[in-house]
Amino acid sequence: MTVHSRPRAAQSRRSSALKGNMRVPGDKSISHRSLMFGGLASGRTRITGLLESEDVLRTADALRAMGALIAREDDAWVVEGTGNGCLLEPQEPFDFGNAGTGARLTMGLVGSYDMTTRFTGDASLSSRPMGRVLDPLRQMGLQVVEAAPGDRLPITLRGPRHAAPITYRVPVPSAQVKSAVLLAALNTPGVTTVIEPVMTRDHTEKMLTGFGAAIEVKVDKERARHISIEGRSILRGQQIAVPGDPSSAAFPLVAALIVPDSDMVIENVLMNPTRTGLILTLQEMGADIELLNRRFAGGEEVADLRARHSRLKGVTVPPERAPSMIDEYPILAVAASYAEGETLMLGLEELRVKESDRLSAVAEGLKVNGIDCAEGEATLSVHGRPDGKGFGGGKVATHLDHRIAMSFLVLGLASEKPVTIDDETMIATSFPQFMGLMTAAGAMFEALEGNA
Ligand code: S3P
Repeated sequence: MTVHSRPRAAQSRRSSALKGNMRVPGDKSISHRSLMFGGLASGRTRITGLLESEDVLRTADALRAMGALIAREDDAWVVEGTGNGCLLEPQEPFDFGNAGTGARLTMGLVGSYDMTTRFTGDASLSSRPMGRVLDPLRQMGLQVVEAAPGDRLPITLRGPRHAAPITYRVPVPSAQVKSAVLLAALNTPGVTTVIEPVMTRDHTEKMLTGFGAAIEVKVDKERARHISIEGRSILRGQQIAVPGDPSSAAFPLVAALIVPDSDMVIENVLMNPTRTGLILTLQEMGADIELLNRRFAGGEEVADLRARHSRLKGVTVPPERAPSMIDEYPILAVAASYAEGETLMLGLEELRVKESDRLSAVAEGLKVNGIDCAEGEATLSVHGRPDGKGFGGGKVATHLDHRIAMSFLVLGLASEKPVTIDDETMIATSFPQFMGLMTAAGAMFEALEGNA
């Protein structure tokens, strides 16, 4: 464990209408990448709207340890990068805490450098498989000097003197795997190609293009994307305005849908189509969500989301939608609990390797709070009831997972009895203002002594 030495229990209870405007913090995926690419580029990168959460600040520490200068100046973060190909060997192990994105993308970043790096993390991160990024990096010449069984942290890596470009077809739909290979390619001579049969979030390709990397994307007749990148190009510092995180907006959004008479606007939310699967699904369920003021900011579409209490009905969520809402299934399961009939979610195998085994964590949490659900190998079925009668009264094990913690606090805002979670501290990894912003909108939360 790193900073989270003392768990803190919390409870939520049935609340009256949630109202007002809210701004959620910056997108986590774009925030990590802004610091990494800024730290690597020549010259100065200025970032506004950066998510200042524990996960992201650990990425800043990692880049500092490799020679980048990173400082907060007024409302912006200013990064002076090392120049592509010029990262320095860090003197200490990286401690990535809970952050899978930080750890996996940094493995890619350092994987083509002739240096030794060591990766550590908390109990959750140490249980997650790293082989999915290490396998392609091994093909490029990386040595995994030491690893816990199953390619898990703590891990020591030694990069090759000259990395080899590869063509790699990603075996799982994972933006982290795609990104790790593309980042290793930045310091690899020649052209590296990643083939992505199922499209995942495209922030790495988009942002690296903005920084000046030579990237080409082609789509073949099977609709697989071939992303080719020419290594060793010059990257130049950029101005980045990080839009609000749709994966954080998901919590107040669903809260407004399930708490009677609610009417909320969540401002400045990223609307990149690789991230909007939840909104589409909720709309299919009958949710009253309006996209206001759609606009482009920093090369990405953003919008203000107006959500009002809605009568939801169950739907089937197809497996091919999973990559565009992969972090949103826990909160979708909460929306499904308040929907009439069955919601069936398919293609959930990747949920088993998130900050926790999210499929079983969600099913367990729903069951202890009286909600009828069934967990399959890669499926979840939830039978909801709109009035929340009989819901609540249970204590949820969050397994060091921020999204499990926030989802179940939202569940309790419309349930008959309060919902307790065993630990709210992990929320700081992605959405430190969650409790404060939700309370200001009318949510009834209570901190409990110890882990109750
Ligand atoms: C992320 C990719 C996703 C997502 C994670 C952030 C990224 O992980 O769950 O929260 O920023 O690339 P996978 O690539 O493992 O699906």
